[in-house]
Amino acid sequence: MKIAIIGLGFVGLSLTSVLSSKGFNVIGIDVDKERCKKISNGISPFFEPDLEKSLKNGLKKKLQIESDVSLVEDCDLIFVTVGTPQNKTGSIDLSIIKNAMLSLGKSIRNSKKQHTILIKSTVVPGTMKDVILPILEKNSKKKAGKDFGLISNPEFLQESTAIKDTKFPHAVVLGGYETKYMKKVKNFFTKLHPNVPIIITNHQTAEMIKYANNSFLATKISFINQLSNICQKIPGANVDDIAKTIGLDPRIGGLFLNAGPGYGGSCLPKDMKALIKFAKITGVKPILLNAVEDVNIKQLEEIISLAKRKLGNLESKKITILGTSFKPNTDDIRDSIAIELIKRFLKRKVNVTIHDPRAINNTKNVFKDKINYAKAVKDAISGSQCVIIMTQWKQYEKLTNNDFKQMKKKMIIDCRRILVDKQLDADYYAIGFGKE
Ligand SMILES: NC(=O)c1ccc[n+]([C@@H]2O[C@H](COP(=O)([O-])OP(=O)(O)OC[C@H]3O[C@@H](n4cnc5c(N)ncnc54)[C@H](O)[C@@H]3O)[C@@H](O)[C@H]2O)c1
Repeated sequence: MKIAIIGLGFVGLSLTSVLSSKGFNVIGIDVDKERCKKISNGISPFFEPDLEKSLKNGLKKKLQIESDVSLVEDCDLIFVTVGTPQNKTGSIDLSIIKNAMLSLGKSIRNSKKQHTILIKSTVVPGTMKDVILPILEKNSKKKAGKDFGLISNPEFLQESTAIKDTKFPHAVVLGGYETKYMKKVKNFFTKLHPNVPIIITNHQTAEMIKYANNSFLATKISFINQLSNICQKIPGANVDDIAKTIGLDPRIGGLFLNAGPGYGGSCLPKDMKALIKFAKITGVKPILLNAVEDVNIKQLEEIISLAKRKLGNLESKKITILGTSFKPNTDDIRDSIAIELIKRFLKRKVNVTIHDPRAINNTKNVFKDKINYAKAVKDAISGSQCVIIMTQWKQYEKLTNNDFKQMKKKMIIDCRRILVDKQLDADYYAIGFGKE
């Protein structure tokens, strides 16, 4: 069996390296030639733990990296993992996937193989039937379900654990018709993940499952963030003890209950926006989803107003931000809440210095010389009037009084509550802890 994966980003490259390191005959395809060159040399274009190791393993076996989509011609399974970013109105921008489907359709036109195409990219319900299928049929001059298989296969991996999640998913969702193609794909996944539940449903339900998943996770985060704001007003209250305890209730579950500055990243904000837009189109008022988003947007204002209350007018104040990646163990800053904080500080003419163990280059691409970049945490903190811990990188958990010695005014806002036990000699605020 030969497998093609179109789009070598976080999802596609993780899948490419995992399948090829297992010995499958894989061809990874991306339109970005520079990206392909790096990947062919065993270098990941972004930081993701264990990815390079897995990629190098694959390259030693039967992995081929190419930029020409027509090479899918002799592949049995074709996974589509191109980006579906949000457009200015908040809906998903389908232009990338439409382009990819156009070239894919043309590429399979003269092929004798009975390909199965699996769409992993996140798309709103109806996209498969109304957009993807017609483009493929028109350009391939073939019929879906008869000449080729078309299956919705949403992806649930998390960046920073993408390889583990690709190897051990919690579920596999297959949306489409009960055809011979579906049977083949079900067989493939049963062998690949023997003990993982496989949910077979129709396209629109599979598409909706992905949005249900992410909007529920966002809801949990906004819920705990709202509680954390209340806790902050109750002297001595501790949001972590609350989260830990409610998380023990199996009806609730402990994950995604870490209070903080709000959710960010390449998926939750865009998927929430897309679902809200989509709900409105269906005529449903997305009251809860709107509230979840609203809490998230306002969460940053809580942090800014705390800084304002303690420092006065923020103009020209020297503020250090520790962590710009949207979560630890990634260099991805797409829709990172720390990036949004910097933007809001720049509007207030704050003198911003940042540190991040992995994401400095990506941050530089956004802010150029508008902010200062420090390679060492010590340098980022030196002379600062306020340090804000945004991302829970392990190295920040080790900070002690000694590291904050060179601050001008010792104010620390710890959005992740990682230094609460350090008895810091500073004006220290842990988000979600009521100061006694
Ligand atoms: N990143 C995540 O954590 C995650 C998790 C689950 C689902 N998803 C979804 O999966 C999809 C991919 O996400 P990502 O973060 O991996 O995207 P990404 O933007 O990191 O990567 C997409 C890749 O596709 C390539 N590409 C674009 N057009 C192409 C074409 N016509 N042919 C070949 N390659 C092409 C781009 O060059 C890029 O390398 C999105 O729909 C996203 O919402 C992402």
